[in-house]
Amino acid sequence: MYESRPEATSAYWMPFTANRDFKANPRLMVSAHGMYYTDVDGNQVLDGTAGLWCVPLGHAQPKLVKAVQDMIGQLDFAPSFQMAHPAAFLLAERLMTYTNHKFGQVFYTNSGSEAVDTALKMALAYHRVRGDAARTRLIGRERGYHGVGFGGISVGGIANNRKTFGSMLPGVDHLPHTHNLEHNAYTRGEPAWGAHLADELERIVTLHDASTIAAVIVEPVAGSTGVLIPPKNYLKRLREICTKHGILLIFDEVITGFGRLTTPFAFDYFDVEPDMVTVAKGLTNGVVPMGAVFSKAFIHDAFMHGPDGIELFHGYTYSGHPLACAAALASLEIFEEQNVLEHARGMADYWADAVHSLKGLPHVIDLRSIGLIAGIELAPIPGKPGARAFNAFRRAFADGILIRTTGDIIALSPPLVLEKTHIDELFGKLANILKTLD
Ligand SMILES: Cc1ncc(COP(=O)(O)O)c(C=O)c1O
Repeated sequence: MYESRPEATSAYWMPFTANRDFKANPRLMVSAHGMYYTDVDGNQVLDGTAGLWCVPLGHAQPKLVKAVQDMIGQLDFAPSFQMAHPAAFLLAERLMTYTNHKFGQVFYTNSGSEAVDTALKMALAYHRVRGDAARTRLIGRERGYHGVGFGGISVGGIANNRKTFGSMLPGVDHLPHTHNLEHNAYTRGEPAWGAHLADELERIVTLHDASTIAAVIVEPVAGSTGVLIPPKNYLKRLREICTKHGILLIFDEVITGFGRLTTPFAFDYFDVEPDMVTVAKGLTNGVVPMGAVFSKAFIHDAFMHGPDGIELFHGYTYSGHPLACAAALASLEIFEEQNVLEHARGMADYWADAVHSLKGLPHVIDLRSIGLIAGIELAPIPGKPGARAFNAFRRAFADGILIRTTGDIIALSPPLVLEKTHIDELFGKLANILKTLD
């Protein structure tokens, strides 16, 4: 059990956490069921963030629990190189069906970060196997989050995640982000302003020449930077420019995949087809770590013409781990059996109404919503960026709701199985916190 004595807590170096602050004031979850966590003191905490955006089906779905239990008793591990197991193939087939066969192959990883680095490597290797080896540049976007591998932080655009880690990958450039409160504050769904920012890609292409650019990677909705929703037609424009110049377009759907926008993927919602998609999180409902890259068949097929032997020198010991495959298969079945996306669509307007009902409350300078996502931007305390939202986070936990903050933005992304009463509870408590926050 947790003891706050420094000698009892120092061994765990916690990720993306204010370690000293946390260890003095811990927040510990001990169980989870449906829409609620239970903390170490027995308090119920409403999950307003689906864990870390990764539990779309809610916690402890019986079918998922059983699928993982069954698999561990049957096949705890199978080597992933030059060997496989049936569930890995079955899942791949089901996933490709879930994309409506817009993609041909799936490559398994263990996290979103690994999926991103895999997709970037595939893009470079794809051009090379086709004899286009000069295409080595990768284009990301300011404020983008693509995990924490060296590839991901290189194309990512969050300064704190980059500045202490050296010079990263060479040959990377960044599109501008699309956040501009003067033009797109308080938008419900896609902002009307900002599609022209996609044309910055033409400027980058002119600067470097298309013949040197391998791929562009963006989050369709940027999550970790604080919920930036793409302007209308922005993603379509990016697609057109990439196609025109032979550049691969990668959508990082680690948070938007598996229903976050009430469609299976964001590429469905925005009706734009990228060449590769990275997913993780909701793929297994967060139950067993797993990520994946979906690739168009033409990318995969380009590798299948060379000499006999291994076509892509890349993979992970735990690629397609049996427990992860079992969890992902059960998740897909639950999505279908429980009509989860239909339910989420039924909640989306009520959700957006609740988000925008916060307009006018103290400190609120923007509200944005799409699908079952909300971004609530607060004015910072002068000289203390991030402190106001973090105070809200602490207050929220004490009041029994789990929210997430990044800088002074509160990001909400509940399990898709929530009911209106949960929306009332979440926003009722949040409104009270905002009214009394320093
Ligand atoms: C868009 C995006 N890409 C990649 C990642 C990294 O995923 P992981 O933490 O599983 O490595 C995240 C995590 O939040 C993400 O939001």
